[in-house]
Amino acid sequence: MRKICVIGVGYVGLVTGTCFADLGNQVTCLDIAEDKIEKLRRGEMPIYEPGLEELVARNVTAGRLIFTTHYRDAVPHADFIFIAVGTPSGVDGEADLKYVRMAAESIAETLTHYAIIVNKSTVPVGTGDSVAEILIERGKQPGVDFDVVSNPEFLREGSAVYDFTQPDRVVLGATNRDAADQVAQLYLPLRCPIMITDLRTAEMIKYASNAFLATRISFINEMAAICERLGADIKEVAAGMGMDKRIGRAFLDAGIGFGGSCFPKDVKALTWMAEMNDCHPQLLRAVMDINRDQRRRIVTRLRELLGNLRGKMIAIWGLAFKPNTDDVREAASLDIIHILQAEGAHIRAYDPVAMETAQRVSRDIVFCGDAYAAAEGADALVLVTEWNEFKQVDMARVAAAMRRKVLVDGRNVYEPAQMRALGFEYRGVGRGY
Ligand SMILES: NC(=O)c1ccc[n+]([C@@H]2O[C@H](COP(=O)([O-])OP(=O)(O)OC[C@H]3O[C@@H](n4cnc5c(N)ncnc54)[C@H](O)[C@@H]3O)[C@@H](O)[C@H]2O)c1
Repeated sequence: MRKICVIGVGYVGLVTGTCFADLGNQVTCLDIAEDKIEKLRRGEMPIYEPGLEELVARNVTAGRLIFTTHYRDAVPHADFIFIAVGTPSGVDGEADLKYVRMAAESIAETLTHYAIIVNKSTVPVGTGDSVAEILIERGKQPGVDFDVVSNPEFLREGSAVYDFTQPDRVVLGATNRDAADQVAQLYLPLRCPIMITDLRTAEMIKYASNAFLATRISFINEMAAICERLGADIKEVAAGMGMDKRIGRAFLDAGIGFGGSCFPKDVKALTWMAEMNDCHPQLLRAVMDINRDQRRRIVTRLRELLGNLRGKMIAIWGLAFKPNTDDVREAASLDIIHILQAEGAHIRAYDPVAMETAQRVSRDIVFCGDAYAAAEGADALVLVTEWNEFKQVDMARVAAAMRRKVLVDGRNVYEPAQMRALGFEYRGVGRGY
């Protein structure tokens, strides 16, 4: 049993702390957000993540998982200190590292014996060295008081517990190989490949991975736009491409594009890093441009079908940036809603779990109790997030409830012929018509 402190109890930190506790370690999760820690102490979840609530409860009951807002309660006892705080986009797209710096300073102030500082936040290349610098400036000696290991996280919201416990690989970067080996020991029970490299390479692996996945999405969306003009069906094109083992099927679903707290900010941060170092990241810029256009295209479709949008009632199905999460950071839904509202449209929306989080950051939306209620009296319906619930809806009932039967399927969930047979004017993404 090792003593672990996890700083930041967001989607990554809470999952990391809880899963390490479940592997038998003694874990203290720390956050400066008192409301989050209070909730966790009451047994409530500050985020929605399938399977996490039961896992937290089990480990709290077993005495392996506790929560605090005080560094002094957590750092002095820890063998490993994981940093899992947010690294949002700064003004020019660069990663804003203020939370990482704050965490490093607080660690330096409260550290009393040797610990390994493990950076799980997605941070620009070189941040591991900067974290070490912060401790050195405060009188701590590398190799004696601390070592820094980079351990980028690859979990996906919505399947975070599964991804953490069944990872494709664990990446560890360190200057001191022995420190990386000690962190590797924590992961041994997961029986997964562990790759050990230098600090900067580990940090870069995370950005390159996210940028590649985002590139696949923008690639298939560009193909979808071409398919639309040429009368081909992107779903079948992607299926045909995916059968090629060199290509594979993952991340080739044409649609509204990517959102969330990672892909957009990480592609932007990598672009910024490249520019600052005299590189010419034209592919990364195109990936972001295409993604932005996908959202605008949805509004263009609505204009084509409805004419002027002023006074039109638009139903939005799905607010979360993807299914199985309540996270609306950089969600396509919010961008699309804002453009529609700016053009004078009214919005009725429904999401199975993300309405509360969406409510905090948006205005003038009528939030509805279910998918049918959102479609009631609408001039058009836009499927934004492909929750399973929307695949099982009685679309004949939906058609009957709408004022005008316009369906814009932003995720290619429905069969065009079936929808047209129900009387919908149907538009998917890249499905030729
Ligand atoms: N969300 C994901 O799916 C995902 C996946 C892989 C990697 N990441 C990366 O992991 C990091 C965390 O992401 P997240 O989505 O979990 O973020 P989050 O915003 O959900 O959580 C971050 C938490 O850190 C806390 N915090 C901020 N400053 C602090 C400080 N000084 N001390 C203690 N707590 C502090 C915040 O209060 C917040 O609760 C980011 O760098 C992100 O890019 C996220």
